[in-house]
Amino acid sequence: GGPVEADIRPIEPGMLVTFTWREQPVWVLHRTRAMLDRLGKHDQLLLDPLSLEPQQPVYCRNATRSIKPEYLVVIGICTHLGCVPTYRRDVGAADLGANWPGGFFCPCHGSKYDLAARVFKDVPAPLNLKIPQHTYLSETRILIG
Ligand code: FES
Repeated sequence: GGPVEADIRPIEPGMLVTFTWREQPVWVLHRTRAMLDRLGKHDQLLLDPLSLEPQQPVYCRNATRSIKPEYLVVIGICTHLGCVPTYRRDVGAADLGANWPGGFFCPCHGSKYDLAARVFKDVPAPLNLKIPQHTYLSETRILIG
């Protein structure tokens, strides 16, 4: 399939919506100011905090891994063996420990990613989640692919 157009207007702050592109789930997460403020406070826990691995287009190789900080656009497929992680917004979620800053948890083998989809150390997944090529057609429409 070709590129897919995503209408991001209905995505409320803190919400994640899944689109489909090339039979893969592509998430658009509308990050709040508070969520963005949490990025950068746990770099020491991450495997590739600076996104040195080519898991994103060059225009997303920045602190938020995005074009606009409030919108994370990312392929929702674990870089370990391809399961679909779950969005776990809750800071300090009971089952993920006090250090959990929010992000994504893969139920298959326990890999964890933060709210910029950066992988934590000491989990099976070897890479940050992949960010697809995308561009803004307008304030409220993104073209994925
Ligand atoms: Fe996600 Fe193994 S597939 S941790």
